[in-house]
Amino acid sequence: MVNFLSQLAWVIYPYLSFSLMVIGVVYRFRNRPLTITSKSSELLERRNLAWGSRAFHYGIIFVILGHFAGLFVPLSFLHSIGVSDYLNFIVSVLAGGVFGIMAWIGLAILIGRRLLIKRVRVTSNFADTYVLILLLVIMSFGLSLTLGYDPLYGSLAYNTAMSNISQWITGFFLFHPDAAYMSTVPLIFKIHILISFLLYPSIPFTRLTHIFTTPVRYLYRKPIVFRSIEGQNTNSEAMNTLRFK
Ligand code: HEM
Repeated sequence: MVNFLSQLAWVIYPYLSFSLMVIGVVYRFRNRPLTITSKSSELLERRNLAWGSRAFHYGIIFVILGHFAGLFVPLSFLHSIGVSDYLNFIVSVLAGGVFGIMAWIGLAILIGRRLLIKRVRVTSNFADTYVLILLLVIMSFGLSLTLGYDPLYGSLAYNTAMSNISQWITGFFLFHPDAAYMSTVPLIFKIHILISFLLYPSIPFTRLTHIFTTPVRYLYRKPIVFRSIEGQNTNSEAMNTLRFK
């Protein structure tokens, strides 16, 4: 029974989650390409969006890069370039803590804005709020690891947990998953990861679908100004979109 639950949690459920995401993304890009959007609400409210969105996006991009580094760069490689387990631990906690808090505060601003500003609230649907709350739960568990578990239990516990998670997730992406690696991982890590599997299938069906476009340009592109002169839209990005259509 324990073995079945472990297979369910660390093999069946994650593959189901990722498969739904991939099928959903392919379907949406092939059949409804013109609906792929982050559904910007900038026209409804700008000040909180500017702060919340920037803090969230800059923070989460570095958190995700940190996940890739922590999960896919082998400890043996770090040792070979002179990075000790302790240094790895300190850098992970500091970088994860700073960017995690930044993303969390940005997200809290975005949620407050969506729920408290009437014109944003009344134009939101269930999915808009659902993904924000889900992200908040996932990130709160993540931060409780970085700012709570790690300082409490130290570098040995951190490196052991990371090494097990890393071996499980590498096997998962190479299609020979071994749920046994997750059996000794502390519960709070497991909760963080299991809840994140609710997020992936919702990506193609919500505004998060914009992740699969080129969100990198959002960070540095000039603001898009929409105005019309004699019935013509002068915005070059919008013109490009029209040409593409
Ligand atoms: C399979 C997917 C995931 C795995 C295996 C995973 C794993 C982890 C681990 C092991 C930590 C703790 C690092 C530490 O102890 O210092 C962590 C922290 C964190 N995670 Fe995740 N995570 C996943 C998905 C996500 C997602 C989807 C998000 C949000 C979009 C997220 C956001 C965070 C945040 C904000 C932190 C705290 C900051 C940091 O240490 O990077 N995680 N994650």
